[in-house]
Amino acid sequence: MNVLVTGGAGYIGSHTVVELINARHQVIVVDDLSNARIDVLDRIEEICGRRPEFYQMDCADKNRLQQVFIHHRIDAVIHFAGFKAVGESVKKPLAYYRNNLDSTMTLLEVMEEFGCRKLVFSSSATVYGPDNPHPYKESMPAVCSASPYGWTKVMIERILKDYATAHPNFCAVLLRYFNPIGAHVSGLLGDDPNGIPNNLMPYIGRVAGGKLERLTIFGGDYPTPDGTCQRDYLHVVDLAIGHLKALEYAESNHGAEAINLGTGKGTSVLELVYAFQKVSGIQVPYVIGPRREGDLPAFWADAEKAKRLLGWEAMYTVEDMCRSTWNFVRKNK
Ligand code: UD1
Repeated sequence: MNVLVTGGAGYIGSHTVVELINARHQVIVVDDLSNARIDVLDRIEEICGRRPEFYQMDCADKNRLQQVFIHHRIDAVIHFAGFKAVGESVKKPLAYYRNNLDSTMTLLEVMEEFGCRKLVFSSSATVYGPDNPHPYKESMPAVCSASPYGWTKVMIERILKDYATAHPNFCAVLLRYFNPIGAHVSGLLGDDPNGIPNNLMPYIGRVAGGKLERLTIFGGDYPTPDGTCQRDYLHVVDLAIGHLKALEYAESNHGAEAINLGTGKGTSVLELVYAFQKVSGIQVPYVIGPRREGDLPAFWADAEKAKRLLGWEAMYTVEDMCRSTWNFVRKNK
């Protein structure tokens, strides 16, 4: 298949591009490089022996996106492009709504114009909001979020459901990611955010690599076994493979289907720190600080639907996620 990957130079996008190329798909990447580096393409080529076609552009630029569809007969799209920093979205809500919604609407209009009817969308477990009990099931109401970033996911899911209702041949798979961490086994691709990381694993990586002094654990008094928050961490390579399974599903189905991608298991912040120390042999100094506003004590996925509809299950362990992160940190000092 000719697969267009928006945001394909980013953290999850690049790992997905590798799996697509390895599965012999023709991959066309669109990325404005606002939160990714151009050398990711060299690294993908080093891993796969093949380089994806690349267009540096904003996918809300309709004229340029139409040109991409003219040059390539696009069979399916995986849509990652979007702003994703939760805290920043609270400070810059308009930028988040404008960017994330515009790019999706433009993409859908161009897909419609060129008769492209398969879309895999990168959604998030944040759509379950604070009121649902965990494990989160796709049948629960997913209509709320704690941040403008999360609201863009809720809104885009709604747009895709309405679009699929109006176009019975269209298929959208809304993949609700839990907490993707880890890196490619080569150490060439991984999560390397600009500035000080907001998310836990890249922060641990910077502390272990000597770039930051210590980790602050946000809250040690949650109603969890060790007092720290629990999340459903999953390996980014498992997540990437989930996208290939979702593409296969979209080939023979219609409608908009929301599917969780998680392991179905909760891991606490302290458990993750200990697992990282064990596999790396490096101490990660930490202090317990105050809670971070908006954090939920614990949530993880009900992962049954992904197994049933996609035949997908996470394979990698928390140790694998830590080992691959450490390998990425060491190789990219
Ligand atoms: C958040 C978003 C999610 C988004 C994900 C990745 C929400 C509810 N969740 O998940 O939608 O997809 O980021 O961008 O908005 N922690 C520390 N110290 C740190 C950093 C984090 O203790 O320096 C803790 C947090 O309190 C949390 C856990 O580590 O308990 C995971 O945090 P993080 O990696 O930021 O992910 P989420 O907040 O779960």
